[in-house]
Amino acid sequence: MSYLDELFGLSGQTAVVIGGAGVLGGALCAGLSQAGARIIVADLTEDACKARVAALEQLGGQAGYCLVDVTRRESIENLLAESLRQAERVNILVNCAGVNVGSSFLEATDADWERVMAVNLRGVFQACQVFGRHMIEHGGGAIVNIGSVTSHLPLSRVFAYSASKAAVLNLTRNIAQEFAPLGVRVNAICPGFFPAEQNRRLLDQQRIDNIMRGTPMKRFGEPEELVGALLLLVSPRAGSFITGTHINVDGGFTAAWF
Ligand SMILES: NC(=O)c1ccc[n+]([C@@H]2O[C@H](COP(=O)([O-])OP(=O)(O)OC[C@H]3O[C@@H](n4cnc5c(N)ncnc54)[C@H](O)[C@@H]3O)[C@@H](O)[C@H]2O)c1
Repeated sequence: MSYLDELFGLSGQTAVVIGGAGVLGGALCAGLSQAGARIIVADLTEDACKARVAALEQLGGQAGYCLVDVTRRESIENLLAESLRQAERVNILVNCAGVNVGSSFLEATDADWERVMAVNLRGVFQACQVFGRHMIEHGGGAIVNIGSVTSHLPLSRVFAYSASKAAVLNLTRNIAQEFAPLGVRVNAICPGFFPAEQNRRLLDQQRIDNIMRGTPMKRFGEPEELVGALLLLVSPRAGSFITGTHINVDGGFTAAWF
């Protein structure tokens, strides 16, 4: 085995990727799979999950899927139970489900606020609890929550999303402290701007121009550019002393703000 395989290889490990059928989740599934992990794709719709599994299998990976709605605790508990039917234990959890709603603060409805918080924040809370308990009882593991540049700063017209992602980062640090002595590491990745469906709906030309002005690298990210950070954080060897922190993968966006 090469030194790099030893450092970053995940063979024998099982990773559950919630939101794994999405754009960024898909790249994260592929990266984990290429590193040798068995993947369980967890998302809302069967067709999207099946398509993701087929793509992973085509790359030579081992993958299965389970439908989940992270807004419902029993659905997350079912995901754990189904994961344990497909694999002996879960070593890695990636919380990558997310939704966004754009409006001014005054126009926002309670329903928009509740939906964003239920998926982006309560979903992460519940999944970390359900899978965290499992990992603690079965020899440890690694959890990565997907934050955003809005974990650090409030972007206009996506205030509920910004608040949810700031809370995800805070929650990540908090859970990491409680889980550290119990063998589970908890970290976050804060992506900058990546071309994905939920962005396309919200980004007009003026907003794209603003993002480009604020991004020192002057481009969007490619989903595959998140994989290196993920492998570092989940690897039991490369990431063994890393917990309660985050990696910004944002072309310098946050560096330009602080
Ligand atoms: N695209 C970006 O620029 C960007 C930047 C920063 C952070 N993020 C975050 O990255 C993550 C992935 O986003 P994406 O850009 O790939 O968007 P996406 O819409 O392609 O993926 C999100 C996935 O979450 C799933 N999902 C939504 N509600 C769910 C629920 N209740 N239960 C289970 N799954 C649910 C969707 O079905 C979808 O597959 C999100 O958390 C998002 O906030 C994205």
